Amino acid sequence: MGKPKVVLGVSGGIAAYKACELLRRLTESGHEVRVVPTAASLNFVGEATWAALSGNPASTGVWESVHEVPHVRIGQSADLVVVAPATADMLAKAAHGLADDLLTNTLLTARCPVVFAPAMHTEMWEHPATRENVATLRRRGALVIEPAVGRLTGKDTGKGRLPDPEEIFEVCRGVLARGAAAPDLAGRHVVISAGGTREPLDPVRYLGNRSSGKQGYALARTAVARGARVTLVAANTALADPAGVDLVRVGTAVQLREAVLEAAKDADVVVMAAAVADFRPAAYASGKIKKKDGQEPAPVALVRNPDVLAEVSAQRAREGQVVVGFAAETDEVLANGRAKLRRKGCDLLVVNEVGESKTFGAEENEAVILSSDGAEVQIPYGPKEALAQAVWDQVAPRLAGRRA
Ligand code: CTP
Repeated sequence: MGKPKVVLGVSGGIAAYKACELLRRLTESGHEVRVVPTAASLNFVGEATWAALSGNPASTGVWESVHEVPHVRIGQSADLVVVAPATADMLAKAAHGLADDLLTNTLLTARCPVVFAPAMHTEMWEHPATRENVATLRRRGALVIEPAVGRLTGKDTGKGRLPDPEEIFEVCRGVLARGAAAPDLAGRHVVISAGGTREPLDPVRYLGNRSSGKQGYALARTAVARGARVTLVAANTALADPAGVDLVRVGTAVQLREAVLEAAKDADVVVMAAAVADFRPAAYASGKIKKKDGQEPAPVALVRNPDVLAEVSAQRAREGQVVVGFAAETDEVLANGRAKLRRKGCDLLVVNEVGESKTFGAEENEAVILSSDGAEVQIPYGPKEALAQAVWDQVAPRLAGRRA
């Protein structure tokens, strides 16, 4: 098998410079990349840069190398087309099937998955014309990544930023890994909690846990690559923002509950991957707790936190909402898992064994997915991304036939 063939379409936005980094990641990880810039984008990054970084010619029009029929061939032979940045104009052209340059022709001839990574000012992204174009493209099976929120060109900030190139690369990798498989979470809203809550004792101390958030982030990345709209409720994570997710940052279990319940109102799936503290200090000291000479420390009184997973499971905000829990167990892993699945009332429970060196902060994971209908799927030791894919493989059929 040869290298996977990727077409990198670049349209005319200032974020074109970030596509250089995306290109580098694609080529260095063994992809054959053909860059197809629009004429306008060459104002930001010149042809020489694309040619040098990709090792291939980079042409914009259909009148070069006409004997090779590039406007048809490049699209036909691609395994993936990714347009980054995709301007409002490019989305409009793609939605309406215009074909006035090499990139738009390529989009019409491509039969492989197509990813658009839009970048534009917030007003343009929110304009009804753009909204409709994005909806049209998504309905046809294209993956349009939600832009990130942050600083835009000029002084303004808002939604419209191109996600980080390494995160767009992750989406491309995820889409390529699925081959011709349809984005089976397209049109679905998925809510994922990740990380570990911190319950403050005083302004400088908290009760916390060792969850890194990596499993929840892997779930978010893979869900985006499978077409989902993702809300990621992240508790105290220090990881790169995945491309295309709406990120809600929280600190405590109570904050996490509020954010998850709010996002769950129109969610098709809720996955509770966060390590939520079961208890919090009964009292919060507004000043730092000081040690006192000759005195033993006062015991810390704890109170129960709400059980978010049990609550979401008991009062599903939508009919047919699929709820997934995680369980970290040290002993009697399966028996405890089965009991927990019943107690929490969720549809699926991903059970993994934890210990000092296992799972927390690690790149790999081993688990069994228990289902409320009695099924049990063993997931071999492997990357957290593989476990995430296995979770979606279990979730997607449960959504089939339900209205998005
Ligand atoms: N969870 C939650 N709210 C809590 C505690 C846990 O939503 N207050 C969720 C976690 O996100 C996870 C699942 O419940 O999906 C399992 O959490 P775990 O702490 O392992 O289970 P517990 O109910 O706390 O059971 P035990 O303390 O007996 O292990």
